[in-house]
Amino acid sequence: MQTPATSLTGRRIVLGVTGGIAAYKAADLVRRLTEAGAEVQVVMTANAQRFVGAQTFQALSGTPVRSSLWDETAEAAMGHIELARWPDLILIAPASANCIARLAHGLADDLLTTLCLASDRPVAIAPAMNRLMWAHAATQANLHTLMHRGVHVLGPGSGGQACGETGEGRMWEPLQIRDAVAALLHTGRLNGVRIVLTAGPTREPIDPVRFITNRSSGKMGYALADALARMGAEVTLVSGPTALPVPAGTRRIEVETADEMLAATQDAAAQAQILIGAAAVADYRLEAVAEHKIKKKADTLDLRLVKNPDILATVRAAHPQLFVVGFAAETEDLAEHARDKLLRKKLDLIAANWVGSGRAFDRDDNALHVFWAGGERELAHGPKSRLARELADLIAERYLAHPAAAR
Ligand code: PMT
Repeated sequence: MQTPATSLTGRRIVLGVTGGIAAYKAADLVRRLTEAGAEVQVVMTANAQRFVGAQTFQALSGTPVRSSLWDETAEAAMGHIELARWPDLILIAPASANCIARLAHGLADDLLTTLCLASDRPVAIAPAMNRLMWAHAATQANLHTLMHRGVHVLGPGSGGQACGETGEGRMWEPLQIRDAVAALLHTGRLNGVRIVLTAGPTREPIDPVRFITNRSSGKMGYALADALARMGAEVTLVSGPTALPVPAGTRRIEVETADEMLAATQDAAAQAQILIGAAAVADYRLEAVAEHKIKKKADTLDLRLVKNPDILATVRAAHPQLFVVGFAAETEDLAEHARDKLLRKKLDLIAANWVGSGRAFDRDDNALHVFWAGGERELAHGPKSRLARELADLIAERYLAHPAAAR
């Protein structure tokens, strides 16, 4: 039976099938994953095709199987780099000893290993092999390497093997793998939780054609909105001007100035449980915006600025029940400033990043140090998409342990 805990609705899974007798069980696994709502793209190695025909997987997944880097028709429809970015998870079941060794050594000599190397998505493997191959020091060392890199190892189980022996090395049953995958993807962990998230820069007009702004691209905030929506949250994205597409499943409200961002955030926060400030809000705006374009007459031009309202602090004061997450963008004393903002703005969590000289702003990579009362966690440097997933997990963890979650 499919419960919220095992639902995979909307999740995309690349299922890698490698050579081994357990490949026949992977056919049932496709059925279990698709029944749970997942979109499955099967990628078979050449050896896997000696055990089960690609037609079986095509019929069960409803999609042609991919097996070669050199299939021009398939590459034209979705290139392998695009395919590497497509899934929420790369699952390899069965994962043979040979496949585990190739992954551990970073080989990319077929489509499946190339995808694993070209992807920043989580990878899970369900090993299946003879008990002696499983126990071999080489296999164990390779597994250790993969686990150290964050690869999830599902199983194996113990029992009778196809070769007639008994011992460890049996692939987990398809239902067991499906449940582990659902738990891994935390599907529905934030089901129905309403989140307001600010992202991008603000623009503070000087005159009808000029404005003050900053280098924020919105990439960090949008990646976080995407990760939270994939966990089932209802995300309202209050966004300053960016060129980014709206993440699937989120509602975007476009604003320009800090005042507009505050008004939209206040409005949406009344119905929300979580508020997240990833926007780089201009701290100051013009005291008076010129009605007409300022003419280039004098050699100098004085612009008088006044402080903008602090969006997080204002909304937190109006809605004390919210679980509030801030960001801190710092060029010095990161931890000290982040902890100070955590207290001063009465935040529940703050994600601090170093900025300046090619860091954080308008880049696809970042690193975060997250602080909360009594704890901290480093999210290591990497793609913003991966960091966003890790931060979303941490937000869910802290929020669900917080009294606000009980409302
Ligand atoms: O958009 P990208 O190019 O991907 O870059 C990402 C980022 C660097 C912009 C992002 O990771 C980030 O750090 N966002 C917060 C930037 C910032 O303004 O930090 P701050 O330390 O000045 O502000 C602290 C917190 O208060 C932030 O959550 C900010 O949204 C909020 N704030 C600040 C000023 C203000 N008037 N109102 C606010 O709510």
